[in-house]
Amino acid sequence: MTTKISVIGAGNVGATCAQRLAEKNLGDIVLVDIVEGIPQGKALDIMQSGPVVGFNSLVIGTNDFADIKDSSLVIVTAGLARKPGMSRDDLLKMNAAIITDVVNNIKKYAPNSIILLVTNPLDTMTYLAWKVSGFPPNRVLGMAPLLDLARMATFIALELNAPITEVKAVVLGTHGDLMVPVPSQTTVKGQSITELLSDNKIKQIVTRTQNGGAEIVAHLKTGSAYYAPSAAAVYMAEAVLKDTKETIISSVYANGEYGLKDLYVGLPAKLGKNGVEEIVEIELTEEERAALQKSAEAIKNNNAKIQ
Ligand code: APR
Repeated sequence: MTTKISVIGAGNVGATCAQRLAEKNLGDIVLVDIVEGIPQGKALDIMQSGPVVGFNSLVIGTNDFADIKDSSLVIVTAGLARKPGMSRDDLLKMNAAIITDVVNNIKKYAPNSIILLVTNPLDTMTYLAWKVSGFPPNRVLGMAPLLDLARMATFIALELNAPITEVKAVVLGTHGDLMVPVPSQTTVKGQSITELLSDNKIKQIVTRTQNGGAEIVAHLKTGSAYYAPSAAAVYMAEAVLKDTKETIISSVYANGEYGLKDLYVGLPAKLGKNGVEEIVEIELTEEERAALQKSAEAIKNNNAKIQ
């Protein structure tokens, strides 16, 4: 049987995820949105690239959640972006209502799936999805640290004029202002960036990484990033669907690891057919550990607002 993957939300991130999933031949794809016509039109357009690109995925667009039936994996990108005059808390409440609705449908039609959250605020929406689904925590995870570390790697590559794929960056914690870039574990061709860049330069790169999303919003004016976010989500989806067990930093449920408990937070984890197979502990400096704690507190504050 062909693998079925559903993407909820046919906006910029969702549609680009569907395109990337198809181009990687990862399975048949169902693209769902509440707006009539958008998922149908985009799905047809993506599928018509098949004869050119060379993939056989069936890509279906729909407004009916019943069509996600028996999906192995559901990527959730449905949500609203912050508009002028809307506070972060307003956005939190509005997206919480959307995620609750979406996850209830996933629970109903794809009860054995793995849920990969993308909607912001990421760590809190992933926690909510876990609560609403009633799934075991390994079957719910969130994308964002992979995006954040890709941004950090890009800035380092640009600074050192190094090949981007040779930079291995590490970012833990929340997807937000208090994310925790980890210079002590970040390398270029195996060499620590602490030996390659001055403290001042590293600080600048850390700050630019923390503001990575806002930098793009400032350029685009309307809307936010979607090429790198969709690349990160689909990379995680591939690890799950192909059962690679690769360690990928993801928003995962912490149950004592790194001294953190009862929250979704960005930590290194092996991903495979069961979703999160294992959380991996890496060495951190005292300062990085303290920053991770602070990051976790911010997530818990947000989680409390939607209880
Ligand atoms: N069910 C299905 N789709 C929904 C629902 C719902 N209940 N509510 C909203 N949507 C759809 C919207 O109709 C829209 O097409 O979600 C889509 C969101 O798309 P965009 O506005 O283009 O947003 P996008 O840039 O894709 O970002 C989506 O990902 O990276 C995060 O912060 C970002 O939370 C945001 C999410």
